[in-house]
Amino acid sequence: MSEQTAELSVAGGRFIKAFHHMISTVKIHQENNQLIKESIKHFVKALSEISGGMELEILLWRGRFFIQGEKLHYRKESFALINEMMDYFPQRGLRGLIFQPNFKESSLKDFVIFARLLNESAGRDDPPNWIDKQFQTHGLEWVEILREIDEDPPELELKRKEQARQSYMHSMAAVKEVAQKVSQRSVAGIRKARRLAQTMVDLVLDDESLMLGLTTIRDYDDYTYTHSVNVALLAMALGKRIGLSQIFLEQLGICGMFHDLGKVEVPKEILLKPDMLNTGEWDQMRKHPLIGVHRVLQLHASREMKSRAALGPFEHHLNYNLTGYPKTHFVNKVTLFGKILRIADTYDALTSERKYRPRAFSPDEALRLMWSKVGEDYDPILLKIFVNMVGLYPVGTILKLDTGEMGLVVDYPRDDERTRPEVLLLEDDGQGGFKGGKTVSLEERDEKTGSFLRNVLECHHPTKLGLQPAQFYLKEAS
Ligand SMILES: [Fe+2]
Ligand SMILES: [Fe+2]
Repeated sequence: MSEQTAELSVAGGRFIKAFHHMISTVKIHQENNQLIKESIKHFVKALSEISGGMELEILLWRGRFFIQGEKLHYRKESFALINEMMDYFPQRGLRGLIFQPNFKESSLKDFVIFARLLNESAGRDDPPNWIDKQFQTHGLEWVEILREIDEDPPELELKRKEQARQSYMHSMAAVKEVAQKVSQRSVAGIRKARRLAQTMVDLVLDDESLMLGLTTIRDYDDYTYTHSVNVALLAMALGKRIGLSQIFLEQLGICGMFHDLGKVEVPKEILLKPDMLNTGEWDQMRKHPLIGVHRVLQLHASREMKSRAALGPFEHHLNYNLTGYPKTHFVNKVTLFGKILRIADTYDALTSERKYRPRAFSPDEALRLMWSKVGEDYDPILLKIFVNMVGLYPVGTILKLDTGEMGLVVDYPRDDERTRPEVLLLEDDGQGGFKGGKTVSLEERDEKTGSFLRNVLECHHPTKLGLQPAQFYLKEAS
């Protein structure tokens, strides 16, 4: 974060706090109350400070506040207050507010009216419209509202996607670099990987769906590296769902990035063999977890970091009931990291196209297959959360709809109910391929009949149509 952004962030935090204080105070006190006067003075001060004589835009987008287009970082102790404000805006159909510099000419009474109108607008038929009219009636010309819209502001969307894509690519390059150094027996450090894991944690916390969408990147030649980053992302997203702290998420990411490091010593002919492996080849393949542990322990990093990172290679083929490999006599249960990685690793491997099987499993097929081994290979609670996280139709799945349209699952509108996703409709690009059209929600209903506008007929793996879903997620950014 640059110094300027950090300053804006701190001032932004103060502004939201003052905003919250003002609307809460006017709710419970009379107009001439001293507390109201104080709260409004505070608000005006925070507003002057942050706007610096310019127009000020405050925006709520995807569960984060943005001030002048910059994402607001806030301290833990402000969480409750920020959360309250995050409900406050949508309850009034608002996406944000714009304050004009001439707010300075307004009286204290104007601000009381402003705060009361905002408070009273909740529960009205069309709150934004009502607020607009009331602002006009009361001559509040220094403030404008931004209505909630379905579309994301394009410049923010683009910035975010570009950042996500870049950290994905950089992480892949970092894993590759470490693997190459390790295979040449030269010293490799993981500082870069660690920094990238931190960025990925931020991105997963910020927008889980975008990051899950990135895991549909499939690079056939670089399978091991894309797979490693995908496993890191899926594991971090699952870790986030069970409330792991940022530090643990970062360590989990590193475990994911290096879980298959031991494959540097498995001959390419075996790794890329198009047929089933014979017994001797399987024996070689099964050595990669322990080789991985050795290689991780030789990396240039702190002892603590290495002992954490070694869990990835060691445990990712160990099942919940301790079957699997490597065979151990000194382990009596798999660690939480191991259990998470087992799920993330299998899911990504099953949904990837590999030479030794005719086709990749579609995400829902993979989940069904995994579910048949719940309690044996996978921890029941974690797998349940994972299935819920990727949704009934996971991000990256192609759906055939009853309207005759084809669509790509891009997101779910709600976190708790992941059954009717948002879908990017695919259109004929006139060259035998597809291009992205508009995004629709499968929750949309016909106004008259109340029935859903679109329903799912079939669910396909994207490769069946020769598609790389990631290209659609990142289309504007690449
Ligand atoms: Fe592996
Ligand atoms: Fe793996």
